[in-house]
Amino acid sequence: MPHTIRTERLVLRPAGLRGARAFWHEVRGWDVLGNTSAWPYPLSYAHTVFMLRKAWLEDEGAYVFYPTLAGRPIGSIGLHRQTESVFSLGYMLGREHWGRGYATELVRAMTRFGFRQLRLEQITADVAVWNSGSRRVLLKNGFRPTGRTFAGYSQAHRREIAHDSFVLDLVDIH
Ligand SMILES: CC(C)(COP(=O)(O)OP(=O)(O)OC[C@H]1O[C@@H](n2cnc3c(N)ncnc32)[C@H](O)[C@@H]1OP(=O)(O)O)[C@@H](O)C(=O)NCCC(=O)NCCS
Repeated sequence: MPHTIRTERLVLRPAGLRGARAFWHEVRGWDVLGNTSAWPYPLSYAHTVFMLRKAWLEDEGAYVFYPTLAGRPIGSIGLHRQTESVFSLGYMLGREHWGRGYATELVRAMTRFGFRQLRLEQITADVAVWNSGSRRVLLKNGFRPTGRTFAGYSQAHRREIAHDSFVLDLVDIH
């Protein structure tokens, strides 16, 4: 597990307990969590720590980072093991940081990390059908829609919602 990953404007550091409260303050709103599937709403600080711990305990199964600005977490981005060579990508940023190209920059750094350091063959991402901003971030990073739409359970919505699935293959980026 690397200590940090640097992008042009952000420093990604492993999502540990240090920074967890700032992270929680950034992401706990409905406008953020309502677009995710793994995070419940409302989200308590205690549950945030529980979710982060769960990711650490996955050992080699999850690589979750806080993108930080001036040392302060503004959200999270992570790769989660599906198989040995296929990981799924997830990310979220606090509302006030949207629209500045940060997610595009972060996804580029994480896919590079996944293919180069973790030696993955494929990275997948699932996006709620209404989430045009996230879809755009993936397309700008070379992900392609598989054409598969499926009902995936959203903890925040407490029901299944329609998702579109995307993939980026190692062979596509060479
Ligand atoms: C999705 C999210 C990470 C995007 O972060 P961001 O830093 O604002 O993204 P970027 O600025 O890098 O890029 C967003 C792109 O989507 C476009 N966009 C944003 N909202 C849009 C909308 N409603 N319709 C169409 N395009 C939209 C932007 O114009 C931009 O594209 P451009 O650079 O070609 O103009 C952020 O909105 C977020 O955290 N949302 C809540 C959690 C979430 O949705 N996570 C992803 C789950 S799959």
